[in-house]
Amino acid sequence: MRRSFVLGLLFVGVVAGQVLRGEEREAKEATPDREAVQRAHETVKLLDTVHKGYVVNITATYVKAQVRTPAAHVAKKVFEFSAKNGGPRVRLIDATGSPQNKVNVAQSDFEKRAVVQLSKGEKYVSEVGHKDGQPILRAATPVPVVMSHCIACHAGFKEGDLLGALTYEVPIK
Ligand code: HEC
Repeated sequence: MRRSFVLGLLFVGVVAGQVLRGEEREAKEATPDREAVQRAHETVKLLDTVHKGYVVNITATYVKAQVRTPAAHVAKKVFEFSAKNGGPRVRLIDATGSPQNKVNVAQSDFEKRAVVQLSKGEKYVSEVGHKDGQPILRAATPVPVVMSHCIACHAGFKEGDLLGALTYEVPIK
C-alpha cells in the first residue's frame, strides 16, 4: 500500500518534471513580443545618448588632461561599473582596422557584422538573439570623429569619419 503510494508520487514527480522541462524549453525558444523588443531599442537609444554625451563633454572640458587620459578610458570604466552592477553590456570597438588598443577589435559575429554595416553608412545595426536562454537585443551605433579633438590622438582621420562603434547587449523583458 505504502509502496504503491510512493511509486505513485514518484510517477507524478517524473511527469511533472517533464512538463516543466518542456515549458522551460518553450520559454527558451519563444520569440519575445514586439513591444518588449521595442522597449529594449529605447534602452539602447537612452544608453547611447548618455555614453556619447559624457564622452563628448569630457573631451571638450578636459582638453589638456585628455592628452594623458582619453575619455575612452573613462567610458570603459563606466561600462565595467555598469556591467558589474547588473546593467547591460556595452563595448567601445574599433572600425578602422588600426585601433589604439587591440582589445577593442570586434570580437563576436554580431560585432564583426556591425562594423561592416556601419562602415557602409548604416546608423543602427541590431539583432534579436539569446544569451543564457534569455532573449537579448544586440545593437551597435557609429562612433565617428565628432569633434576636432578626436584627431589629436586618432591621427589621419577627418571630422565625420567612422572611428568605431558602441555595441550593446540589452535583455528583452
Ligand atoms: C587623448 C587622446 C584621445 C582622444 C582625444 C580621443 N581618443 Fe579615442 N582612444 C584613445 C585611446 C588611447 C584609446 C584606447 C583606449 C583603451 O582601450 O584603453 C581610444 C579608443 C577609441 C575607440 C575604440 C577603438 C580604438 O581605437 O581602440 C574609439 C572608437 C575612439 N577612441 C573614438 C574617439 C572619438 C570619437 C574621440 C573624440 C570624441 C576620441 N576617440 C578622442 C585616445 C584618444
